[in-house]
Amino acid sequence: MIITLVGGGSTFTPGIVKSIALRREELDVNEVRLFDIDKERQDKVAVVVDWILHQELKCDIKLTVTNDPETAYTDASFIFAQMRVGKYAMREQDEKISLRHGCVGQETCGCGGMAYGMRTIFPMMQVIDDAAKYAKPDHWILNYSNPASIVSEACRRLRPKARIINICDMPIAIIDVVAAAMGIENKKEIVYDYYGLNHFGWFTAIEHNGRDIMPELRAYIKEHEILLPAAYLKDKAALAPNSSKGNRHAKGSWYYVWKGVYEIMENFPDTLPNTYLNYYLQQKEFVEHSDPTHTRANEVMETREKNLFDGIDHYLATGVVDENVFYAGSHGDWIADLAIALKNDTKARFLVITENRGALPNMPYDAMVEVPAYIGKNGPEVIAQDPIPLFQQGLMMQQLTCEKLLVEGCIEGSYEKVLQAFTLNKTVPSMKVAKEVLDDMIEANKAFWPELK
Ligand code: G6P
Ligand code: MN
Repeated sequence: MIITLVGGGSTFTPGIVKSIALRREELDVNEVRLFDIDKERQDKVAVVVDWILHQELKCDIKLTVTNDPETAYTDASFIFAQMRVGKYAMREQDEKISLRHGCVGQETCGCGGMAYGMRTIFPMMQVIDDAAKYAKPDHWILNYSNPASIVSEACRRLRPKARIINICDMPIAIIDVVAAAMGIENKKEIVYDYYGLNHFGWFTAIEHNGRDIMPELRAYIKEHEILLPAAYLKDKAALAPNSSKGNRHAKGSWYYVWKGVYEIMENFPDTLPNTYLNYYLQQKEFVEHSDPTHTRANEVMETREKNLFDGIDHYLATGVVDENVFYAGSHGDWIADLAIALKNDTKARFLVITENRGALPNMPYDAMVEVPAYIGKNGPEVIAQDPIPLFQQGLMMQQLTCEKLLVEGCIEGSYEKVLQAFTLNKTVPSMKVAKEVLDDMIEANKAFWPELK
């Protein structure tokens, strides 16, 4: 059984491989392949991957590292995609160009997200086509590549038969935080209901062993004025911006995101919002506390990315690995567990991004929504929900329409449709600003975007 990681040079690769290796029995995996177009970067990451597989966990799993699609995909059963088209350098552009025009500068939301989406749509189709050509006929592509909302809409439009499931780790990262805040050791005992679009949704119920913990959680958030476990904030040294220790969510600009959960719930306490709603509901305040010369992309380059590559150099020089330098945990566990559910037809419940098909009765049939589903060998079986409230429906319709226009504009090469998407986005204050940002984005993305006419 072969699992191929697309975006092998990612800072998340070591963590994903570790999650795979820890589940080697259930996955019955005997080969992991790393595939990336950036040879130098991937070869470095492969050093630590090799250490995880063959030194740390002493597995009998073959590691193949390649830049050739045929070698990467041939006979693969699973393709885990997590590519970042344009790398952090372009993420930095996305964030800074938006901020320069007074708009939210974020990886997957607002103008930055749309720019990133336009870079990723066609490379993602290439992954789907190469997998269809070379991988096992019953392969599954599990896709983390962002912006997942836009990518999944493009997959629906352009490759409706593709064996791809788009996923996101933010809801489970939120559940991790909830568990830590509530003192729940085994987060697998937590069951939740959720609906939304990707990076745009709400938890409607959270239960621990059948007990509704929403009231307690609400009280916790109100008391602490943030959704972060006190333990994450205790170790001041670990909170230093470039420390490789501590939880990344408690540092730098992430802090505001968890603070924002409190701020949103002060007004709308019924549901627990996905942290990403901050960018849409507090767009003005987000811009105000952002540093337009130093954004999340910089934070990531100075921490997660630097720590990993410094750590690899240190290992190569000394033979000593500091485990803190690579990011492991829920992100890798989630994708590996999903593969187990598909492979072993377990019907386990996962949040996935999938075509609505009536699951949310008052959202369009063809909307790509993020909802719970049972996962078996044929993919997600979506769970039907009640109609969603008008406020959420309005927000989601605006965002959904924006994303659909963007994908349509990208496919057709239509400047007007892409401008409509930018204009419709809730993070953009006016048509004029939309046009100014878009024109700068076109300039910055020359090497990546289709031509818009
Ligand atoms: C969460 C989201 C991902 C996103 C990541 C960014 O995990 O679900 O979609 O890519 O955050 O994290 P970063 O530390 O790179 O800002
Ligand atoms: Mn995500």
